[in-house]
Amino acid sequence: MLEIRGLSAGYGAISAVRDMDLSVRKGSLCVLLGSNGAGKSTTLRCIAGLHRPVTGSITLESREISPMPVHSVVRTGLALVPEGRMVVAPLTVEENLELSRFSGRNRDGDTLARVFELFPRLKERRRQHAGLLSGGEQQMLAIGRALMTRPEVLLLDEPSMGLAPAIVDLVFDAIVALHKQGQSILLVEQNATLALSVCDFGYVMRRGHVVVRGKPEELRQNPEVLKAYLT
Ligand SMILES: Nc1ncnc2c1ncn2[C@@H]1O[C@H](COP(=O)(O)OP(=O)(O)OP(=O)(O)O)[C@@H](O)[C@H]1O
Ligand SMILES: [Mg+2]
Repeated sequence: MLEIRGLSAGYGAISAVRDMDLSVRKGSLCVLLGSNGAGKSTTLRCIAGLHRPVTGSITLESREISPMPVHSVVRTGLALVPEGRMVVAPLTVEENLELSRFSGRNRDGDTLARVFELFPRLKERRRQHAGLLSGGEQQMLAIGRALMTRPEVLLLDEPSMGLAPAIVDLVFDAIVALHKQGQSILLVEQNATLALSVCDFGYVMRRGHVVVRGKPEELRQNPEVLKAYLT
């Protein structure tokens, strides 16, 4: 289980996350909703070791992981698929994937096959430079790259952003398939309808704070969620 307790973080005088509590149970697909600037990415960046919190604790299987450098966080089992994907453009698809195998915990051979099974398009384009991929393919590659580290919890920051609806469906089918395989996932998503249709627990953030939490069927009926995200 990933547990965040009393997390606060910011940028100089700007407070982005305030006294945040959140848990991701083993095997669960949790979604973190919230409008622009609510603090979702900052929360994920703190978990991934990319941003140093001011206070609070972040534990994975009861082991404190904050503050820890990114490479150590990855080795303990957390992998972030960042907003904007950040694939290495001059390298091929396969090189991008192989590169991240060595930052993770498990270096055996079948992870690449698992990624190619999840995203057959990546297999077809394995020798192509990542910079030449479409946005959707780059998103698949970014997810594949995170999976190569064999994460205990996969952190996804707005994987649907900027993608055509058909491609969003492909990416979400993969997220659902991973969840079915038992992968724990924390998903940040702006599309609340879509996110609530796949998750088993949800959090809503406003101004750096979790304001609503519950099962998707509860969230769908919550007046605040209805008003802000499901209109
Ligand atoms: N690098 C930065 N420097 C200064 N302020 C920042 C920086 N990154 C984020 N912030 C501020 O921190 C707050 C939270 O931002 P964050 O990116 O975590 O929100 P978000 O929920 O991910 O938003 P979005 O939906 O737009 O991605 C916002 O007020 C934002 O302006
Ligand atoms: Mg964000």
